[in-house]
Amino acid sequence: PFVVTENCIKCKHTDCVEVCPVDCFHEGPNFLVIDPDECIDCTLCEPECPVNAIFPEDDVPAGQEAFVALNAELAQAWPVLTVRKDPPADAGEWDGKPDKLKLLER
Ligand code: SF4
Ligand code: F3S
Repeated sequence: PFVVTENCIKCKHTDCVEVCPVDCFHEGPNFLVIDPDECIDCTLCEPECPVNAIFPEDDVPAGQEAFVALNAELAQAWPVLTVRKDPPADAGEWDGKPDKLKLLER
């Protein structure tokens, strides 16, 4: 499956959700995750993310391996999102900022 990684935190553009044919994106307060049990590896979401936060499970950026388990865990807790919404007003300021995992809200 594909995985949402750290750069989505506090960016949350949600362009990704509109292209997913199986509605496997789940929304939290400041981050989205993909349900690995539903993702069919269609690859459509990967180029949609303006901040390049989506990767195949076996190709997540170095140091971000924990996001694989985090997507699986939070997909069980958060509701599905299928319609794009406006990103946070300060999303642009958070693109590429390091160490955003500690800012993840559950
Ligand atoms: Fe959905 Fe396809 Fe992205 Fe998987 S790869 S989350 S099925 S859009
Ligand atoms: Fe996050 Fe990118 Fe989707 S910022 S909400 S993975 S479009």
